[in-house]
Amino acid sequence: MGCKVMGITAGRKNSNSEYLLKEALIACEEAGAEVTMINLRDYNILDCTGCTSCTKSMSQGKYTGCVLDKKDDKKKIMDVMLAQDAVIISAPTYDLMPCSTYLKFAQRSLSYETAFLETIGAIEHKDRVAGLISVGGSTRSWQSMALEGLQATMFTIDMKVVDMLLATRVPGNAQCLLDDELIARARKMGENIMKAVATPPEERKWLGEEDMGWCPNCHSNALVLGEPQWDGLYYPIECQVCGAGGNLEPDGKGRWKFVIQENGLLKDRTTVEGRAKHLDEIGQTQGGFFADPENLKLVNERKQRYIQKTFRGID
Ligand SMILES: Cc1cc2nc3c(=O)[nH]c(=O)nc-3n(C[C@H](O)[C@H](O)[C@H](O)COP(=O)(O)O)c2cc1C
Repeated sequence: MGCKVMGITAGRKNSNSEYLLKEALIACEEAGAEVTMINLRDYNILDCTGCTSCTKSMSQGKYTGCVLDKKDDKKKIMDVMLAQDAVIISAPTYDLMPCSTYLKFAQRSLSYETAFLETIGAIEHKDRVAGLISVGGSTRSWQSMALEGLQATMFTIDMKVVDMLLATRVPGNAQCLLDDELIARARKMGENIMKAVATPPEERKWLGEEDMGWCPNCHSNALVLGEPQWDGLYYPIECQVCGAGGNLEPDGKGRWKFVIQENGLLKDRTTVEGRAKHLDEIGQTQGGFFADPENLKLVNERKQRYIQKTFRGID
């Protein structure tokens, strides 16, 4: 099938994340995909400066890109990545979450905010799917934010996650090669990706394990206690990743399940409509702050206490 699939890894050279990704990509290539693969460790990616000049101009209907576009390799990679039909990401788990090499790359995607750019007519909508692989030395317990951390980076660039794989207990270099089941599951991810690409976008569904994670909406394994949101919306329990809201209920088998309530997907971050609610929030909180000159005056006055106060640093 003529389609484009890109693999992006952030793992050690010739080790677990690379090999599991390659196994998935081999399945894609065998099914006819044109495959590209990169390891982020080979590229220069700078930290987001937090200037928000990208979104400020978007809010005025202009696309100015990122102030770092000419200073590192992010744009070069994104130009290829956003032309793909599917992307598979694989990242090692460091301190329970995706390693910083990946996060640094992903957190530079604000200037590619697809919902904004489509709204102002700067880009055309393109449907893409994604598969995510997290690789760690431990079990799920010590990788508790690994896939969830990767998922959280998919919203900005509007990638529909159709499969996820948590590779556990492979601490050693290339140790995954001893686990035939794991390699087979990585291959299955490639097959699932190709299946999703061949499905009309509106019919694309989750193809991973049905019982993966608490959340029936995004399949994350992370729930948090809800508290009233900026607009008063309250859910007793929320999915940490997609924001689905509901409560825990007995599943009849002595365990608990997360049941999404009727209006529980109002702010589903995996959808453009759900993310638009966050834009309303930004408009109210950030917009309200900047719009009132009294606020800025007061902040400037109060700043002085902290600007003048300094502590010993490290030479
Ligand atoms: C700084 C550091 C932190 C790590 N933290 C975790 C962790 O929190 N949980 C875990 O399961 N593995 C952790 N690991 C183990 C790696 O995830 C593991 O070695 C993995 O195989 C690396 O993937 P790679 O071979 O593709 O580079 C850590 C490794 C390093 C170097």
